[in-house]
Amino acid sequence: MKGVVLAGGRGTRLRPMTEIMNKHVLPVYDEPMIFYPVRTLLENGISEILVISAPEYIGGYIQLLEERFEDAEFSYKVQDEPAGIAHAIQLAEGFVDDTFAVVLGDNIVMDDISENISAFADSDEDCMIFLKQVSDPSRYGVAEVEDDRVVELKEKPDSPETNTAVIGLYLYTSDVFDRIPELTKSDRGELEVTDLNRTYIEDDSLGYSELTGQWFDVGTPDGLLKASNFVAENRDA
Ligand code: DAU
Repeated sequence: MKGVVLAGGRGTRLRPMTEIMNKHVLPVYDEPMIFYPVRTLLENGISEILVISAPEYIGGYIQLLEERFEDAEFSYKVQDEPAGIAHAIQLAEGFVDDTFAVVLGDNIVMDDISENISAFADSDEDCMIFLKQVSDPSRYGVAEVEDDRVVELKEKPDSPETNTAVIGLYLYTSDVFDRIPELTKSDRGELEVTDLNRTYIEDDSLGYSELTGQWFDVGTPDGLLKASNFVAENRDA
């Protein structure tokens, strides 16, 4: 399986740091943020990795990643405008094979998902999402689960029905590339991953797994601080 790291976007919640630099080079304790999603893929056996970022930053990533991760085989693609996570995923067409993993560049996922990856490759499902219980669900995509099936997904609802966040790690089959062109832009002008993943509820091909390990969305100052403290405290544990 190949993997995709999304490192585009606007980084508005981390301004002013992101006025002149891309969010994914900001430090999580002593390493650039993007090292973490790359490691999530590598540690789960995925070494062929497509990195997607904005035109002005992609060159820097080539330099940064090639030097650090000698065991990975990187490819790169430019997302011309931050038109949404689903828009960025569409850019992976032609790079990936039948099943692939997508990780958001501002997500730190510490669980071992290698069994989920094997199970997904053998299953009839076309998308797998990963869920985590949180105290502040309205910051995230939120899932409602009934009888072991995801029955609803909402993007940052004002009054979430559950505390179940959808984290920024997704497994897809290549049929995703037929679904994304059918999406319409959200009120914030983006092709939303939550709208994409909802299409799989409609044809009952959405799987999920609940994660139990540490997870951080480091797209906010608070998330960045918490993750940095966690890394600093657990470095030699
Ligand atoms: O962290 C998990 C959450 O990530 C999910 O629960 C939400 O459902 C999902 O929409 C996403 O929400 P965010 O508001 O945190 O997404 P954000 O705009 O911060 O983008 C997440 C990453 O995706 C970020 O590292 C940059 C990348 N990205 C984003 C956009 C909009 C791109 O590469 N291109 C884009 O156009």
